[in-house]
Amino acid sequence: MLDKLPERVSVYEVSARDGLQNEARPVPLDAKIRLVRALIESGLQRIELTSFVSPKWVPQLADATDLVAAIGQPEGVTLSALCPNTKGFERASDAGLQEIAVFLSSSETHNKKNTNKSIEQSLRVFAEVVPAAKQANMRVRAYVSTVWGCPYEGEIDSARSLQITKELLDMGCYQVSLGDTIGVGTPLQTRRISDVFLNELDQERLALHLHDTRGTALANALVGLQMGFRHFDASVGGLGGCPYAPGAAGNLATEDLVFMLHGMGIETGVDLPKLIEAGRVAEAVVGRRLPGKVHQAGLPALRT
Ligand code: HMG
Ligand code: MG
Repeated sequence: MLDKLPERVSVYEVSARDGLQNEARPVPLDAKIRLVRALIESGLQRIELTSFVSPKWVPQLADATDLVAAIGQPEGVTLSALCPNTKGFERASDAGLQEIAVFLSSSETHNKKNTNKSIEQSLRVFAEVVPAAKQANMRVRAYVSTVWGCPYEGEIDSARSLQITKELLDMGCYQVSLGDTIGVGTPLQTRRISDVFLNELDQERLALHLHDTRGTALANALVGLQMGFRHFDASVGGLGGCPYAPGAAGNLATEDLVFMLHGMGIETGVDLPKLIEAGRVAEAVVGRRLPGKVHQAGLPALRT
């Protein structure tokens, strides 16, 4: 297994979106700007900034346009934002973003609660949004949620998640990120799911989006890495969750992922001490202790 490990892995940072969408206390725009600048400073090259969703559904990210304007287009960094429909795409495009991420769930109930649509309806919306975005020279990523399990429907058939993923890729999404939305995955399950996806699809077209709700995200990431995944979503400090998925607290912490990868000799392009600084900014921004392990423990003296 270990001889299959890559030289480099790509990290897609989601704290400013998946993290901040979940905060009960409003985070002011200038604090979000501080967080994103610290993330960029750490060398992260793919950052999801915010969401162009309905501000009635997610008021935490209602300042999306202002955040994108404040961050501008830093050299060598790809910025993205969630986008559920044509209105979201138009707002993202007007703001000047070059990438968006569409999203849906592989469970009907979660998709309905999250977006007020059936899976079929979501796919019909994306069949319009994705070509329109590509026509506007934007890249489109996609998420398929609840692949490891749904808070309402329990276990999800991976064949269904795979079928939805293929439809999104066929529409023109360049990559689909598979979500363990509520952090219920365990390693052997991750191996089974990895087999289902990697047997049929190129590893470059897939990513893992793991929540650490029950402490298994890093173990699942390691299994995914060994199975062939090369793109991982993570959130500094372990900030994160989903407001429409009860119990979905905490994404895989970016520092924990990067610490593990660097320790295994795998490059990420991220400066870990600076990333730890960004985690401190994140903690100050939300005003509470964040759960990431490396965030809390820091770097071991012998390894700095
Ligand atoms: P709806 O209420 O059915 O929408 O919501 P609608 O089309 O009927 O519109 C209702 C109102 O919202 C209208 O305004 C629209 O203009 C407005 P009104 O006429 O009442 O004043 N509206 C918008 N405004 C701004 N931007 C937009 C937009 N769209 C409509 N894009 C909708 C449907 C999809 C909009 C809503 O359900 C929604 O915004 N949901 C987003 C929920 C969300 O963001 N969830 C968290 C992200 S998903 C996640 O965290 C999982 C992930 O991390 C992966 C994983 O962990 O697995 C990605
Ligand atoms: Mg998520």
